[in-house]
Amino acid sequence: MPDANNRRPTNKTYGNPTPPPSLVDEHSERWAFFLFLSFLLVLFGTAIWLVFGDHTAPEPPQPEISLSGTEQFITIHEPIQPLPLTVKLNPDKVALGKMLFSDTRLSQDNTMACISCHNLSSGGADGKQVSTGAGGARGQVNTLSVFNSAYQIAWFWDGRAATLNEQIDGPIHNPLEMGITWDRLEKKLQQITEYETLFGKVYADGINEENIKDAIVAFEQSLITPNSRFDRYLRGETDAISENEKTGYQLFKDYGCVACHQGMNIGGNMFQIFGVAKNYFENRGNITRADLGRFNVTGRKEDKYRFRVPSLRNVALTAPYFHDGSRDTLEQAVHIMAEYQLGRTIPDTDVALIVSFLNTLTGEYPYEGIK
Ligand code: HEC
Ligand code: HEC
Repeated sequence: MPDANNRRPTNKTYGNPTPPPSLVDEHSERWAFFLFLSFLLVLFGTAIWLVFGDHTAPEPPQPEISLSGTEQFITIHEPIQPLPLTVKLNPDKVALGKMLFSDTRLSQDNTMACISCHNLSSGGADGKQVSTGAGGARGQVNTLSVFNSAYQIAWFWDGRAATLNEQIDGPIHNPLEMGITWDRLEKKLQQITEYETLFGKVYADGINEENIKDAIVAFEQSLITPNSRFDRYLRGETDAISENEKTGYQLFKDYGCVACHQGMNIGGNMFQIFGVAKNYFENRGNITRADLGRFNVTGRKEDKYRFRVPSLRNVALTAPYFHDGSRDTLEQAVHIMAEYQLGRTIPDTDVALIVSFLNTLTGEYPYEGIK
């Protein structure tokens, strides 16, 4: 049965395109002139577009690393972005890099490998207050994780290496780490048939410093930990984290942690003073050279006690915390941040919620299978 509300107007005309007769009489000539002028303008515009216009389809922006599927087009309006799910790398290089990373023959006395301190099954670090070298000699600072390190602004706590490639000179020369020279290392590896074959497969000029670095860098680029519960949440899986963890993330933003810990690595993209609100070092005492942070690189007074803001990815696995490895739990670390970076105290209940959020940042290492 037709309903009154459903009835649609049928023959109704909306508006009248013909001007009233009186107006036509007065203005018809000028009207025609304007019409002609508009026609000329359109014609001229079309000609210009045909001759000078760029008729190719716009190129989509090229990401630095290729991501799988449609992932690269996801836009996330949050101060933290998810890690790529995969990276495109040469698998032979990665495998060679992994072998080098795990080989004690890279050290002068065959006792240390990169994995001696960067344990891949415990967050890419060593769980010690400060690293220890051969014979138990104590290093200066807490070991940084090698996971997701490809996305840092610069390398080491003080950012003294400008590229991942340059970073490798550090552990190679450090007497507590490999304690070797490139010249000696090249000669050492050139005598190992397996390396001769594997380098030959990837590099035309075989075993040399440049290629050793290149393979290790490729392996390090593979050390990503995507798919943390928090990343899945960012990608739209709203129930990947609990209500408490969501509140923890909100507090992390509201208290201002995100001003420094942000971006894809939730840190790692800026340098900040440790002790913005209160002097951490005066209160701790025993100031070491390493405590001077970025000052050791730039020599500028304002860089004293300034450090690269650490990444909080997998932070639940990388205790103890801070460059001095002085705090064993995340709760302690968050209290210190509140006091020294924000100049306030945060109640234990809020700290617990923030820590529950930090626990959602543990990801998965997708290339475990590479031999
Ligand atoms: C004796 C322990 C030890 C060994 C062995 C070692 N490292 Fe490290 N690694 C550290 C420490 C400690 C740091 C932090 C040093 C600093 O910031 O001053 C670090 C930092 C790094 C970083 C920087 C991470 C970042 O986010 O800036 C990378 C990358 C790295 N090491 C790779 C390697 C490689 C590759 C090797 C082997 C060639 C190696 N390490 C051997 C202890 C070690
Ligand atoms: C003004 C910048 C700034 C703010 C704000 C800030 N941080 Fe930090 N955070 C840093 C710096 C710098 C370090 C490294 C300190 C050091 O060890 O030298 C750090 C270290 C940490 C660490 C230890 C990481 C590790 O691997 O050792 C945690 C955890 C942390 N911050 C969490 C937080 C939380 C939670 C908040 C908010 C309550 C917060 N931060 C606020 C700059 C900041």
